[in-house]
Amino acid sequence: MECKAWSRHSAIGDNRTMTGFPKRDATDRSDVVGEKKDDAHTCNVALLGFGTVGSSVARILCERSNTHLRLTYVLNRNVARKKVDWLPSSVKWTENIDDVLESDVDIVVEVMGGLQPTEDWIRRTLSLGKSVVTANKQLMARCGPELINLACQMRQQIQFGASVAGGVPVISGLQEGLAGDDLFKIRGILNGTCNYILSQIEANAIPFATALREAQKLGFAEADPTEDIDGLDARAKLAILARVGLHCNVTPESVVARSISAIDSVDFEYASQLGCTIRQISWAELRTDLKATGKADHLFAAVQPALVELASPLARVEGSQNLVVATGRYGGETVFGGHGAGGNPTAVAVVSDILAIARSQQATTTTTTSNAGQPAETTPTVTADFTAKHYLRFLVKDRPGIIASLATILSERGINIDAVVQKPDCPKSHLPFLITLEECKASLVEQALQQINSLDFLVQPCLHLPIL
Ligand SMILES: NC(=O)c1ccc[n+]([C@@H]2O[C@H](COP(=O)([O-])OP(=O)(O)OC[C@H]3O[C@@H](n4cnc5c(N)ncnc54)[C@H](OP(=O)(O)O)[C@@H]3O)[C@@H](O)[C@H]2O)c1
Repeated sequence: MECKAWSRHSAIGDNRTMTGFPKRDATDRSDVVGEKKDDAHTCNVALLGFGTVGSSVARILCERSNTHLRLTYVLNRNVARKKVDWLPSSVKWTENIDDVLESDVDIVVEVMGGLQPTEDWIRRTLSLGKSVVTANKQLMARCGPELINLACQMRQQIQFGASVAGGVPVISGLQEGLAGDDLFKIRGILNGTCNYILSQIEANAIPFATALREAQKLGFAEADPTEDIDGLDARAKLAILARVGLHCNVTPESVVARSISAIDSVDFEYASQLGCTIRQISWAELRTDLKATGKADHLFAAVQPALVELASPLARVEGSQNLVVATGRYGGETVFGGHGAGGNPTAVAVVSDILAIARSQQATTTTTTSNAGQPAETTPTVTADFTAKHYLRFLVKDRPGIIASLATILSERGINIDAVVQKPDCPKSHLPFLITLEECKASLVEQALQQINSLDFLVQPCLHLPIL
């Protein structure tokens, strides 16, 4: 049997509306969530997890009466404290996964997060011939291909549209909307927390630590923000996008992730002088060595703070928004943007996935998947060694000869300085200044910085950012 690895499909049959559901009277409320309806087309849904996303999914299912979806189970640990009065009494609350799996539920929605017991529960669900919708990026980045294969074997589906960029339909956009193109580059702002913090440093000229504290107070950053700040959250999402859009088998660990914590408000001043701003950019690009193999064999991939030109759509992303720019051989650039997180936007993506599965279940008696026409997945070498212009920001104890020492080390590696910029009236003991470099490989700059960072006039290690 063929598997459509990272894809969904839908079909429209006889006596269906354009969304694939039977035509019905607007006053017919017989399929309102949770109400009993013996209809061959009714699709029973169970929710695993009743937190931020889960409760929003339940509310949409409850309030939207124009679908044939019926919420039958809500599972959560210590479930008594989770119960709400706005769900129909027919919805069963449980702490026991067996209650869900032994029921006539068609689609299990996993919005608990974490790797375990989530992975085991999803495997059991698929093995029992039920489809799955998940918003879990860490799980899909690590186990996506195996879970999709299992779904294929069982002639079921696993959809994960909410796992990247929350409510922005980027996964379905890449899989379906741009399936006709040959995509080779995906760039994006995939972490709203980092984007919010960087936007605040830029707008209010505050230090990183202050911006982080305020983001935590407002609920835009976790108490432990490491996953976001150090780029681990975004690289899991980038690994998923590289699979979906570039057909590359990439593990999150193979993607270099660099923290935004060294960015200071002075960097935004310098960036603005260069016609740029600073954003955490997730970047994956296929490079084809046509002479050698004719195949794309290198994937340049990294998550890092970078300078982006003010004219770029990436520079205009404010606050906790997400944006993805996909570039194809035929269609050029396509931009997807919107709310990357939050209960309701993420729940919209989840419900859209549920509806997509429900549609395909109605279109065929058995849910089948096929990969006809999908490019084969490759496993390229992953590298973060981009060729780019570079931004080096120093903080030094001023003395004569500093620029000469730096220029010597850079020139020994064949690196050309483009410009030197110094803010006037800064204290001599903590003097920031900037050197920009002409295009060269990031690895060359890193080698030079190993030597530079041991020089005794540096107050702190040099901040190195690519200029994209
Ligand atoms: N929030 C967003 O904006 C967003 C955006 C995109 C994707 N996502 C993804 O969506 C998923 C859910 O996120 P969320 O923000 O809704 O998280 P959340 O608010 O923490 O909700 C998770 C819910 O699942 C329950 N739960 C966790 N582990 C469980 C277990 N082992 N057994 C039973 N119940 C369990 C939690 O119970 P307790 O109350 O006991 O903790 C909580 O009610 C995650 O994978 C996340 O990465 C979230």
